[in-house]
Amino acid sequence: MNFDKYYPFKAVPLSYDIKALCPDISEYTLYFHHDKHYCGYVDKLNSLIEHSPLMQNIPLEGLAMTEDKDIRTNAGGIYNHELYFASLTPQYREPSAAMLGKMNASFGSAEEMMKKISGAAMGITGSGWVWLAEDRKGRLDILVTKDQDTIDLDKYTPLLNIDVWEHAYYLDRQNRRAEYIKSVMNIINWVGAENRSNFT
Ligand SMILES: [Fe+2]
Repeated sequence: MNFDKYYPFKAVPLSYDIKALCPDISEYTLYFHHDKHYCGYVDKLNSLIEHSPLMQNIPLEGLAMTEDKDIRTNAGGIYNHELYFASLTPQYREPSAAMLGKMNASFGSAEEMMKKISGAAMGITGSGWVWLAEDRKGRLDILVTKDQDTIDLDKYTPLLNIDVWEHAYYLDRQNRRAEYIKSVMNIINWVGAENRSNFT
């Protein structure tokens, strides 16, 4: 995935059919999530920086880590959601042997890693994100960010993320976040995660 993007930003269409993630994530949820929430961040960021040549010269990743809260929130809203939609797939495949090796080295086992990801997602108060990321030595880490904050992209390469805002699941699951997290695990795009790694 190429995040080396500059103003004006354009919404990226889903790479799968809007119904393709059913029953784990409904068409209704995906429509609002992609077409309303995500596209809303694209429009908002473009309007925030339309008169700022300085900001227009900063790539999306930089804007997602800037100090200006409004710009950071909306750039993060783009960056985080593009990774999230790419972190899901209707064609689930188990992690490769190489990826499993990385999970074992970092967490002891894939099961332990999944348990930690679920625990991190359940532990978020309010809105936020869980990330599986790789540090500069190739070690995997699980990180949490609040609101639309992105992880430190100078220190980590994000492999996948999970949106833990209520809008990601409320229409389907109401307040049953654990069900949503379990569903997401059924549709994680491990091939995409491995492709983002610098070490496999
Ligand atoms: Fe979201």
